[in-house]
Amino acid sequence: MLAGGFDPALTERAKMEIDMGVAPLPPEELRERVSGARDPKSFDLSGAATVDEWTRALAAIGKKWGDFQTIVDFGCGCGRAIRHLRSKMDPAAQTLIGLDPDAEAIDWVVRNLDAIGYVLSDLPPASMPDNSADLIVSHSVFTHLPEDVQHAWLGELRRLLKPGGVLITTVHGDHAFRSYYNDVIRAGQPETAQVLMNAMNAEGFLYIKGRTAAEAALPEYYGAAFHKIKYVHETWSRYFNLLAWFPRFALNLQDTLVLQKSTT
Ligand SMILES: C[S@@+](CC[C@H](N)C(=O)[O-])C[C@H]1O[C@@H](n2cnc3c(N)ncnc32)[C@H](O)[C@@H]1O
Repeated sequence: MLAGGFDPALTERAKMEIDMGVAPLPPEELRERVSGARDPKSFDLSGAATVDEWTRALAAIGKKWGDFQTIVDFGCGCGRAIRHLRSKMDPAAQTLIGLDPDAEAIDWVVRNLDAIGYVLSDLPPASMPDNSADLIVSHSVFTHLPEDVQHAWLGELRRLLKPGGVLITTVHGDHAFRSYYNDVIRAGQPETAQVLMNAMNAEGFLYIKGRTAAEAALPEYYGAAFHKIKYVHETWSRYFNLLAWFPRFALNLQDTLVLQKSTT
C-alpha cells in the first residue's frame, strides 16, 4: 500500500488555473453548503486543489485521466471539483457525471458546466446501470455519513463500477479527528472529548450527527464521520481492494483512499 503527504506546490498550480478563469462560479449559498465558506477564491482554489490531488493519486497507481472513459463525481455538490475536472477531459471520448442528493446543486451543475448530473435519493440506487463507471471520484462525502448509509453507498459504488474500476475518496482520519478533539477541549468539554476518543479507539469509526445552518438543505442525517485506517481495511474490504492511502492529503485535512473493484 502507498502513503504520502500534502504538497504545498499544488496550491501554486491551482492558483494559476484560477487566474485563467476556468468556469462560472455557483451562487454563494451553494458554495457555502459544500465548503462552509462564501469566499469565491477559496471555493475556486479548493476545487482546483482537489482535482490536483486526484491527478496525483491516480499517478501513484500508474494511471491518468485519459485512461478512464466514464468518470463519476459522487457527492459532487455544486461542482466545486467538476469546474476544474472538465479541462482534464476530452469531451469527445469521455463522459463526466455528477451525482448528489442536493437537487438545487445538481440543477446548477447541469445548467452551467458540461456535465451530466443525476439527483440521488438519500439512499441507493443511483439511476445508472451496473458496471457503467470506469472511475469514481468523491471528495468529503463519507466524512459526513452514518455507518449504515456509508455501507449502502459503498455497495452501490461497487455496483456502478466496472470490474477493475477505481474509486478515489476521502475520510476524516487521525489528523482530522485530532483537530476535532482539540476543538471540543477548547470548547470546555474535556470529558466529552475523552468519550469521543475512547469510542474512536474502540470502534475505529465515529459518527456525530449535526448540520450547520448552511447545511439545512442536506439530508437530515448529515453529520461528521471519522475513520481509522484499520477500520477501512477491515470493513471496506468487502467492497473494494485498498490500493493506496494518503494521510492528510485532501485539502491538508482529510485522508485520501484509492480503491479498486476486483476483476472477479
Ligand atoms: C462537504 S460536501 C462536498 C461536496 C463536493 N464533493 C465538494 O467537494 O464540493 C458533501 C456532499 O455530500 C452530499 N451528500 C450528502 N448526503 C449524501 C448521500 N447520502 N449520498 C451522496 N451524497 C451525499 C451533499 O449533498 C454534499 O454535496
